[in-house]
Amino acid sequence: MKLFLLTTLILTSWKFSDCQKDDEKLIYTSARLPTNVYPVEYDLNITTFLPGYNWKEDERNMSYNGIVTVRLVVVNTTNLIVMHSDIKTQAINDITVTSKSNANLKLIHMVPSIEDQFLNMELNEEAHLGDELEITISFTVLLRNDRRGYYITRSKRADGVTMLNAVTQFEPVDARLMIPCFDEPEYKATWKVTLKYPTGAVALTNTFEEDSFEDGDFTVTTYKRTVKMSSYLLAIFIGDAKYKETISDKGTRIRVYADPVNIDNVDMALNHSRIVLEGFEKQFGIDFPMEKLDFVSVFDFEFAAMENWGLIVHKADAILGNNPFVTEVVIHELAHQWFGNLVTMRYWNETWLNEGFATYMTSYGESFVNPDYDREDFYIKLQSDAKQHDFEGAINYIDHLEDGSIETPSLIYSKGSSFIRMLERIVGTDNFNTAIRNYLSEHQYSNVEDKDLYAALEDVREPEENSISFESFAKCWTHQNGYPTVFVNPSEKGVILTQRREVQISTDYKVFDECGYKWDIPIWYQRVGDEKVEFVWFKKEDYELELQVDGPVIINADSNGYYSVVYSDRLYESIAKDLENNNKMYSNNTKLRLLSDSLNYALMGKTSAHNVAVLAIPLLEDENANVKVMSQMMTFSAMAMLKELINRSNEDIQKIMNSTFTPPELPISSNCGSTSSISDCVSELVTSETESGSNFDYCAFMIRPRSHATVIEDSLVKWLKTEKNARNRHMILKLLVCTEDEGLIERLKNDRTVDSTLFEQMRNRYQLKKLDERGKTGTGSLKSHKFITPHSAR
Ligand SMILES: *[C@@H]1O[C@H](CO)[C@@H](O)[C@H](O)[C@H]1NC(C)=O
Ligand SMILES: *[C@@H]1O[C@H](CO)[C@@H](O)[C@H](O)[C@H]1NC(C)=O
Ligand SMILES: *[C@@H]1O[C@H](CO)[C@@H](O)[C@H](O)[C@H]1NC(C)=O
Ligand SMILES: *[C@@H]1O[C@H](CO)[C@@H](O)[C@H](O)[C@H]1NC(C)=O
Ligand SMILES: *[C@@H]1O[C@H](CO)[C@@H](O)[C@H](O)[C@H]1NC(C)=O
Ligand SMILES: *[C@@H]1O[C@H](CO)[C@@H](O)[C@H](O)[C@H]1NC(C)=O
Ligand SMILES: *[C@@H]1O[C@H](CO)[C@@H](O)[C@H](O)[C@H]1NC(C)=O
Ligand SMILES: *[C@@H]1O[C@H](CO)[C@@H](O)[C@H](O)[C@H]1NC(C)=O
Ligand SMILES: [Zn+2]
Repeated sequence: MKLFLLTTLILTSWKFSDCQKDDEKLIYTSARLPTNVYPVEYDLNITTFLPGYNWKEDERNMSYNGIVTVRLVVVNTTNLIVMHSDIKTQAINDITVTSKSNANLKLIHMVPSIEDQFLNMELNEEAHLGDELEITISFTVLLRNDRRGYYITRSKRADGVTMLNAVTQFEPVDARLMIPCFDEPEYKATWKVTLKYPTGAVALTNTFEEDSFEDGDFTVTTYKRTVKMSSYLLAIFIGDAKYKETISDKGTRIRVYADPVNIDNVDMALNHSRIVLEGFEKQFGIDFPMEKLDFVSVFDFEFAAMENWGLIVHKADAILGNNPFVTEVVIHELAHQWFGNLVTMRYWNETWLNEGFATYMTSYGESFVNPDYDREDFYIKLQSDAKQHDFEGAINYIDHLEDGSIETPSLIYSKGSSFIRMLERIVGTDNFNTAIRNYLSEHQYSNVEDKDLYAALEDVREPEENSISFESFAKCWTHQNGYPTVFVNPSEKGVILTQRREVQISTDYKVFDECGYKWDIPIWYQRVGDEKVEFVWFKKEDYELELQVDGPVIINADSNGYYSVVYSDRLYESIAKDLENNNKMYSNNTKLRLLSDSLNYALMGKTSAHNVAVLAIPLLEDENANVKVMSQMMTFSAMAMLKELINRSNEDIQKIMNSTFTPPELPISSNCGSTSSISDCVSELVTSETESGSNFDYCAFMIRPRSHATVIEDSLVKWLKTEKNARNRHMILKLLVCTEDEGLIERLKNDRTVDSTLFEQMRNRYQLKKLDERGKTGTGSLKSHKFITPHSAR
């Protein structure tokens, strides 16, 4: 016996618990489930004692009981079966284990591991490879109140009565709070659900109803068996709701459920979900596999929405009404029906594959809804979002995997999709879309690692000299914090590029430096005066890269790459000249990338404010509203910094001029050189109101460490004190809308001259930001479905 157990210990890493009194009992200790059995089918019956309906409420009020039967196959001989269950809150009433091939096989001990949330079920005999086992567990649990597992959410009827509804939220590791199961994404199985609930309530789960009958004051409904899926995607809703319905072109029934008071507020979500579902089916070449798709609106929800397969749960404000946020969230969750539900990451540390794609595909969804939608604009904003957080970690890494309190940083959404965007630009959009269709079809109903994505991309790649495998390219982008900045200087033959990481990693965050903070950088470059965008690799082993070109080049044309670029002063001058002469040759993203990089690096003291102004001035009247507003705002930022400097003593100015400005005089306007005429000079520059019909969010481009932002804010505040011109004041205040300085907001509140609308914008933005930060440091459940889009947080 001892020897046998020792062998088992070595082979499957089971071990005796040190503190177990009865050392006959087997206990498994590990963060991950053992791999000796694999679940195939679950049957789940749940009776929910939800109050507020016509049943005689008794001691079972606010609880539910369930019976789960799981059929599994043995893939390695074993006499210990381990499943997840939260034994702290789940009362297990009964367990039976039977084998198809061995009538003698039975359960002899069940020992819970409370912290690991495991049930250790020891058998009297070994179950052998190929055996089919059936485990049935009955359990009783209280409905929770903490937005996890199976919990209570409230809604109000028109007459003011509060209704209680029960809903699930499982991702990442809370399915086990409701049901004993194999709660890891890789254990995909089918589920056949039966729900018993007070008659009069609406009951929903992932699939269509099959059969329904009344049993006393309760209704029992059986649903069709689901397709094979991960446990975190199971969902149940029971409560007070009405719906509106539509049918997609391929016959999928789409419904949006909401509380009766709000049911007339779901039309846009319903319309857009149909358009987007149809669009994604075409784009991915795989039909939505469920016959129905429900959305349900609830008030108490931890995230914006959760993509449960066929039953998407939204927080009410992310589905009711007509606003862009609703559409964005609907699209994101629909993209997950393929990226995440059909093809799932193997484990939580690669959640960026789910979230990166759901985010990346959002721009396609937007373009189905609105054919004029500018997908390029979406991607450049994502890059800015990502850069704001890109010191926090690496996208293939997730903290606390072992203790269950998995947190997903917002970075996996924005950097994940910015990285995917680079892959797309390297292979070309058509090849990329083919590769994605192959990837989805090859891995449907199963799990992937990032290398499966790279393999699909290699298959469609055109032969290229000097190329780098996607797997080795990806390593440095997904396993390191930060991103490269490319410095461009003139050389004898053209320009010389060097790379360096400029983002500082504070000690609060883990360091990931898999490649010594170097990257293989795809360089898209455009010679000035030439429309063509050319491509070359800047490999991480190379100290520098020389491009043999006549005259200046723009690096990272179209902002395809997730990196920043800083030029020498002379190059800025010549690029600026060409932006003026050949304005139409450069894409809007090329211009935005130039502007935003120069401003950010000026704020960090890596290039001069002068260069910022030099670049922005030729674009003040650009046909693209975003470029135009950005350059106007940047001119103001630069002017604020210059003005601040200029108001110093002569010697100071001289010092600063000597160190940062070349040439030393300000070429912007003849009036701009003297202290008294700065405001005239600015009036001259900004010839139109910045409103100009654009929703451009300047702040979205202000990626910089907070400490550097104060430089510009201090200058602006000083300027505001003396500025009399109303339009200039307005511009200064618009820039101050980006502030995160609570003290400054308070001071401006008391300033009667400050326009109240702008002040409100500033305060709203600040409060949203605070909310967002609180969300991130929350209770430690996965934020993978939390939809963080600073650019839409308005
Ligand atoms: C089965 O056990 C053997 C020996 O420990 C191990 O090498 C193998 O990976 C296991 N297979 C599975 C599917 O767990
Ligand atoms: C679950 O409910 C269905 C439908 O009422 C029933 O046929 C089945 O026997 C129940 N399963 C268990 C284990 O009670
Ligand atoms: C059932 O629970 C609800 C919510 O806590 C409560 O309002 C109701 O009074 C309870 N019913 C009984 C009979 O206790
Ligand atoms: C939804 O679509 C219907 C039918 O096309 C249309 O009449 C209605 O105005 C749309 N509603 C919204 C809010 O988009
Ligand atoms: C994710 O974690 C698993 C172990 O749990 C490991 O085998 C795998 O290599 C990890 N993936 C990445 C990309 O780090
Ligand atoms: C830039 O934006 C303008 C207006 O928004 C648009 O007409 C133009 O086609 C865009 N330019 C490019 C190169 O995409
Ligand atoms: C600035 O540079 C000039 C010319 O090089 C020099 O004469 C002057 O002393 C410098 N001023 C300061 C404050 O460094
Ligand atoms: C500029 O300097 C003068 C004299 O030191 C001072 O009175 C004035 O407030 C300053 N202006 C700004 C905008 O800082
Ligand atoms: Zn998501």
